[in-house]
Amino acid sequence: MIDNNEMIQRQGADKQLGQMSNDFLRLTGKYNYTYNFSWMGRPIIQFPQDIMAMQEIIWRVKPDLIIETGIAHGGSLIFSASMLELIGGDGQVLGIDIDIREHNRVELEKHPMFKRITMLEGSAVDADIVRQVCDFAKNKKSVLVCLDSMHSHAHVLKELALYSPLVTRGSYLVVFDTAIEDMPEGSYPDRPWDKGNNPKTAVWEFLKQNDRFEIDREIQNKLLITVAPDGYLKCVK
Ligand SMILES: C[S@@+](CC[C@H](N)C(=O)[O-])C[C@H]1O[C@@H](n2cnc3c(N)ncnc32)[C@H](O)[C@@H]1O
Repeated sequence: MIDNNEMIQRQGADKQLGQMSNDFLRLTGKYNYTYNFSWMGRPIIQFPQDIMAMQEIIWRVKPDLIIETGIAHGGSLIFSASMLELIGGDGQVLGIDIDIREHNRVELEKHPMFKRITMLEGSAVDADIVRQVCDFAKNKKSVLVCLDSMHSHAHVLKELALYSPLVTRGSYLVVFDTAIEDMPEGSYPDRPWDKGNNPKTAVWEFLKQNDRFEIDREIQNKLLITVAPDGYLKCVK
């Protein structure tokens, strides 16, 4: 019998499925599919498949700190906090966003999961914000980082340089929206990112100079439909 790992590898290498996954992303993008979901009442701008992958990672790693750049409505912060709540212990979530809208802040602050969440307002690459994040991460044993703010190559590369040292061995650095690279050129006319200038190109450049991280391809091969192909980076040393 063929075991699951081999099946996962084979489905990941299946060109027809790969094409179908890209088609799914491209076609659903027109309808803002990623805006259709919520977690415990807060809108979460993610694919359900990636949320499942994050659940598996959080359970496996059991981080005592999850750092997320890009809060938006806060659904991903609430998701991470709810996983830490289920695990038990004192795990905390730290979110950073350049613009925390008042109505989002109000809803987040009264959410039952907010007890595990701290939010910082400012650019994720601003020196003062980075200093506060580093202070927060001091003495934490297991740190997971998710990057989901501005998706241009230059910005993500900076976030990778600033936040990757905080990730602990065995944990993950998850870079969302790498799938922009797999979409046709000009798919985001009103955005400062495109094919050739996005989180995936930043990850590729980052990995040329950093041997602490490896792409965990089993995750993308398992999901098939993901906004983060080549974006699940495992910290191996
Ligand atoms: C894709 S949304 C985040 C979605 C959220 N992680 C979720 O899963 O629901 C991107 C967010 O990044 C924020 N952002 C843009 N530029 C930023 C920067 N330089 N630093 C921090 N946040 C930024 C935007 O304000 C926006 O709220």
